[in-house]
Amino acid sequence: MNLTLHVWRQKNRSAEGEFVTYREEARGISTDMSFLEMLDVVNERLIKSGKEPIAFDHDCREGICGQCGVVINGSPHGPRRATTSCQLHMRSFQDGAELTIEPWRAAAFPVVKDLVVDRGAFDRIIASGGFISVRTGNAPEANGLPVPKQDSDLAMDAAACIGCGACVAACPNASAMLFVAAKAEHLNLLPQGAPEKDNRVLAMVDQADAEGFGNCTNHGECEAVCPKEISMGFIARLNGDYRRASLKRPRAAAPAGGAG
Ligand code: SF4
Ligand code: FES
Repeated sequence: MNLTLHVWRQKNRSAEGEFVTYREEARGISTDMSFLEMLDVVNERLIKSGKEPIAFDHDCREGICGQCGVVINGSPHGPRRATTSCQLHMRSFQDGAELTIEPWRAAAFPVVKDLVVDRGAFDRIIASGGFISVRTGNAPEANGLPVPKQDSDLAMDAAACIGCGACVAACPNASAMLFVAAKAEHLNLLPQGAPEKDNRVLAMVDQADAEGFGNCTNHGECEAVCPKEISMGFIARLNGDYRRASLKRPRAAAPAGGAG
């Protein structure tokens, strides 16, 4: 297949970026290639002609690590539901297609180069959530701490979040609440995560605010683009936990409006 690519090129964080169009470099692409393999081929051709390759993030290429992620024709991770950029195949596009490829757009995710953004804000949110109270050592007896099946299933659903940031890129408020909710609630739902629940929720929401992410106003774009189909129901759970924690531990500078 032959494509026309409009790719965001930006030398560094402070440089002004622009779209650059590639046609010759995107000819003869196999429909069996993944989207990132297509970018690999384009990059090999750019390097052969002495041009700077396109910088993009990736690691596992199996939908696990959350490193990849580009906006394709306005949609984070492209047109297929529940699919990361690395698992998207070129057969999802028509021969002759024109593709606009951009980095995540959010003030809290500054562009490092081309399609690579700095998602350190997510790491700081997770770090702010702290630890859980478990003893290390031998595995405990399996029935020593019963967990209701419904809770363990929900916790597993939340734990599927790979921290890619597509939810932020899709949200008109650049809210990180789907990510924060998934990361807080997969611990909050389990007895092992219960002792630090209040502190975790307050700290993670505060950190998300401090990083410059916006509030959630229930657009639902996050859930629609999430490659792991994290439900917005977790945001509702987070809001409930946040309110309960705020009431128990009123703080001098508690932000108005809850978790978002
Ligand atoms: S909630 Fe979904 S879209 Fe957001 S970071 Fe996690 S996996 Fe990515
Ligand atoms: S490269 Fe790891 S999820 Fe895409």
